[in-house]
Amino acid sequence: MFLLLHFIVLMDVKDCALTEGSTITPLCPKGYFPCGNLSQCLPRAFHCDGVEDCGNGADEENCGDTSGWATIFGTVHGNANNVALTQECFLDQYPQRCVCKGTELECVNAGLKSVPMVSSNVTLLSLKKNNIHSLSDKVFIKYTELKKIFLQRNCITYISRKAFFGLHNLQILYLNHNCITTLRPGVFKDLHQLTWLILDDNPISRISQRLFTGLNSLFFLSMVNNHLQVLPKQMCAQMPQLNWMDLEGNGIKFLTNSTFLSCSSLTVLFLPRNQIGFVPEKTFSSLKNLGELDLSSNMISELPPHIFKDLKCLQKLNLSSNPLLYLHKSQFGSLKQLQSLDLERIEIPNINTRMFQPMKNLSYIYFKNFRYCSYAPHVRICMPLTDGISSFEDLLANNILRVFVWVIAFITCFGNLFVIGMRSFIKAENTTHATSIKILCCADCLMGVYLFFIGLCDLKYRGQYQKYALLWMESLQCRLLGFLAMLSTEVSVLLLTYLTLEKFLAVVFPFSNIRPGKWQTLAVLICIWIVGFLIAVTPLWKEDYFGNFYGKNGVCFPLYYDQTEDIGSKGYSLGIFLDTITSWVVIFFLPVNSALNPILYTLTTSFFKDKLKQLLHKHRRKSIFKTKKKSVSTSIMWADDSSALKPGALSKINLEDNIVKPIS
Ligand SMILES: *[C@@H]1O[C@H](CO)[C@@H](O)[C@H](O)[C@H]1NC(C)=O
Ligand SMILES: *[C@@H]1O[C@H](CO)[C@@H](O)[C@H](O)[C@H]1NC(C)=O
Ligand SMILES: *[C@@H]1O[C@H](CO)[C@@H](O)[C@H](O)[C@H]1NC(C)=O
Ligand SMILES: *[C@@H]1O[C@H](CO)[C@@H](O)[C@H](O)[C@H]1NC(C)=O
Ligand SMILES: *[C@@H]1O[C@H](CO)[C@@H](O)[C@H](O)[C@H]1NC(C)=O
Repeated sequence: MFLLLHFIVLMDVKDCALTEGSTITPLCPKGYFPCGNLSQCLPRAFHCDGVEDCGNGADEENCGDTSGWATIFGTVHGNANNVALTQECFLDQYPQRCVCKGTELECVNAGLKSVPMVSSNVTLLSLKKNNIHSLSDKVFIKYTELKKIFLQRNCITYISRKAFFGLHNLQILYLNHNCITTLRPGVFKDLHQLTWLILDDNPISRISQRLFTGLNSLFFLSMVNNHLQVLPKQMCAQMPQLNWMDLEGNGIKFLTNSTFLSCSSLTVLFLPRNQIGFVPEKTFSSLKNLGELDLSSNMISELPPHIFKDLKCLQKLNLSSNPLLYLHKSQFGSLKQLQSLDLERIEIPNINTRMFQPMKNLSYIYFKNFRYCSYAPHVRICMPLTDGISSFEDLLANNILRVFVWVIAFITCFGNLFVIGMRSFIKAENTTHATSIKILCCADCLMGVYLFFIGLCDLKYRGQYQKYALLWMESLQCRLLGFLAMLSTEVSVLLLTYLTLEKFLAVVFPFSNIRPGKWQTLAVLICIWIVGFLIAVTPLWKEDYFGNFYGKNGVCFPLYYDQTEDIGSKGYSLGIFLDTITSWVVIFFLPVNSALNPILYTLTTSFFKDKLKQLLHKHRRKSIFKTKKKSVSTSIMWADDSSALKPGALSKINLEDNIVKPIS
């Protein structure tokens, strides 16, 4: 089993060396992937959709990110002792509670306090889950045939420097889940045949280069969850064959350019969950065969531009969850074989398409946000799959959203046009008020126009959105549409606020003459448009500060929850959002307050009821209710002819209200 795996890895390494430089993959246009060895290309949407589209099944292959060597080894690590055993026992001597098969002996959970006396021709000794706390001098010296020892979960604290002496045939040694704090140099001196050494979950805090003396054949070294802070000067000096090194979950603070100097056989290097802050430029330069590198969850804030230059065979790179501030333009330039790149939770302020273009074989890429996916259009699978609005294939990913855009666009456009038309025909007595309503309808019409265009763009890019996403979001059209939507929203919110305020004043001071005249209203309306225009145009005008404010998503409208990079634009969209919220408070709560208070305090009185009846008899005038529908965010009923609240009707009603002054 093990030899087979070894073979696979060596084969892979050889492959890498051979194919280096030769690019024979069928070239597909952006957003498309090749159908295996056929010359056909299919849109990325067809990959792993559960339907065979290629004819040779290539589109339904590799549906999970299986790049890297970890998956080749898979489950081997951790349960390597599941060996098919023969039933007959060839050992004469062993403790009663142990199970013997052939020359292999399992003493799992047998309450042993020390290494038991067994026949000298034992080849496998499993002492898992016992109470062995120390390994004294030459404790295994008789068992020269031993190939595998399992000593996990014993809470071993002390290991004599001569404990493993004489084990010239040992291949596998498991010491994980113990209490080992130190390992003396020379302790593995005799283990020339050792290929696997597992030291996971121990409190080992220091190792020296000489600790690994004798491990000429070591292939796999795992020290996950130890307390290492410093690595030896040259980690692999004594282990020239080392292929796989896992140092996850230690406290390693830094790497030097000589740490991995002699690790040229290394194919897998795991360093996640450490405290690594700085990685010098030459750290990985001798790892010519490295296929997988995991530096995730460290403290790396900066990577030298050419750090990956010599990793010609690298297939999988994980840099996620690092506080990286910056990625250099050609950071990944030489990673021609890379298949999977994980940049999750990393802000890339200077992201651009050229950063990812050299990695022709890249099939999986993981980003902090969906927007970045548009910079790697040639990658088959990009995570996250959506930003809630768009997906890789479509501008509007959701069918409900897609339908709604059209429905709302129609209602908004034609509804408002209808109201404007009606208003012009029907003569309202308060012309200034009518003008305000018409202007409001105009502002809302703009929202309809915006939605129409978004719907059209969605149709245009259907199925291949990612190909054009970047072009679209950076286009002038997108900015203009964003501007239009913002203008419409702001003007409409300001106007509603103004109209509410006007009505509110009319109720509070029914006799005072502070109602605005024609010219005053006109001035206010012009002011509102100017303010709305300024708010909407500012991000376009100061682009260096706001970045591409409107082009942050496919619908060209900055949503407050969107993770934007620039603090400036983040603050701006948040500010606008908060302002809008305040306006909604003004629009909803003040009217509700002024509408509810009269009802609560007056409707209940019989005097009011009588008055109301009289009033209804006298004035059987039509009351016009205008129903006005606004875009996605709003849907408000605007009743503009509130005859019940006219001064005449109100004059004799006693409004015992804290806002509305009693009228005597
Ligand atoms: C593609 O590969 C399959 C085997 O994987 C082979 O049977 C087929 O002939 C190949 N087709 C071409 C066009 O090379
Ligand atoms: C192992 O050694 C015992 C004597 O200690 C002997 O009887 C037995 O045959 C040996 N088994 C093998 C497989 O050599
Ligand atoms: C490693 O870096 C140091 C400086 O940090 C430099 O002096 C030395 O030459 C480098 N060694 C190699 C092998 O590049
Ligand atoms: C990268 O590392 C993180 C954390 O260590 C892990 O959750 C993620 O699955 C890794 N990515 C890949 C592609 O393996
Ligand atoms: C891409 O990967 C395939 C195998 O997965 C390999 O044959 C090919 O050479 C690689 N392409 C490049 C440019 O390295």
